[in-house]
Amino acid sequence: MNRTILELKDVTKEYCIGKTTFRALDGISLKISDGEFVSIMGPSGSGKSTLLHFLGFLDKPTRGEVYIDGMALSGMSSDDLADVRNGRIGFVFQSFNLAPTLSVAKNVELPLTIGGKSKKERKERVTKLLSMVGLLDKWDSLPSQLSGGEKQRVAMARALAQNPKIILADEPTGNLDSKSGKEILDGLHDLWKNHGMTIVMITHEPVVAAYAERTIYIRDGRVEADRKQKARKASVEEIKIKR
Ligand SMILES: Nc1ncnc2c1ncn2[C@@H]1O[C@H](COP(=O)(O)OP(=O)(O)OP(=O)(O)O)[C@@H](O)[C@H]1O
Ligand SMILES: [Mg+2]
Repeated sequence: MNRTILELKDVTKEYCIGKTTFRALDGISLKISDGEFVSIMGPSGSGKSTLLHFLGFLDKPTRGEVYIDGMALSGMSSDDLADVRNGRIGFVFQSFNLAPTLSVAKNVELPLTIGGKSKKERKERVTKLLSMVGLLDKWDSLPSQLSGGEKQRVAMARALAQNPKIILADEPTGNLDSKSGKEILDGLHDLWKNHGMTIVMITHEPVVAAYAERTIYIRDGRVEADRKQKARKASVEEIKIKR
């Protein structure tokens, strides 16, 4: 068994709405090993995205503790948190989170600029990443000029820009046609299998979840089930998402 890279210990998240509190996560404990491919499933509103935010150190829980590489989140300043995240974790958000005024290439380049890479290195890396997701011809396009699936691919390229150890993806194929969906999933499979990356991916599709070697089911902010499985790639036909 590989060492634990991410851990949630009794994590609870409550939101105040007027005078009432709503518990989005209710005492979740789980460990994710280095190099593991995990999918997270559960009904809409069950707390999946909230959970992923904690795994990525993007938010602090109301109670409980989050660890990355054994380091606790609670003692850290926001600068420390940013340092820990940068270069370690790549995010693919449900809502893309692309900068609307920047071109596709600039969006992918952004984490590299922050990471202090030279102009030449940045251009080479962006070229490689955009060709990987099949969007070299959209180099100068703005996000508003892209389809949902294309935006998701830019988000994926950007998440990979800094060669992170961990990818956290919130429904990475939710907005894609089956062929692009398979490309993204096969890309994730390759990053996991051949590059030792740790991947945590939220999905509503069982055939997508099957790409992972473990599926965690969330319901009402709790872990309902946590099962190991044999990771299995799917064909385009199997991925065809019923809409
Ligand atoms: N900022 C917030 N303030 C109040 N409630 C929130 C906030 N963010 C999320 N919630 C609530 O917390 C619950 C969990 O939200 P979350 O986004 O984690 O769900 P999800 O499982 O990702 O759902 P989906 O599959 O629809 O993306 C939901 O009921 C949501 O309404
Ligand atoms: Mg969500």
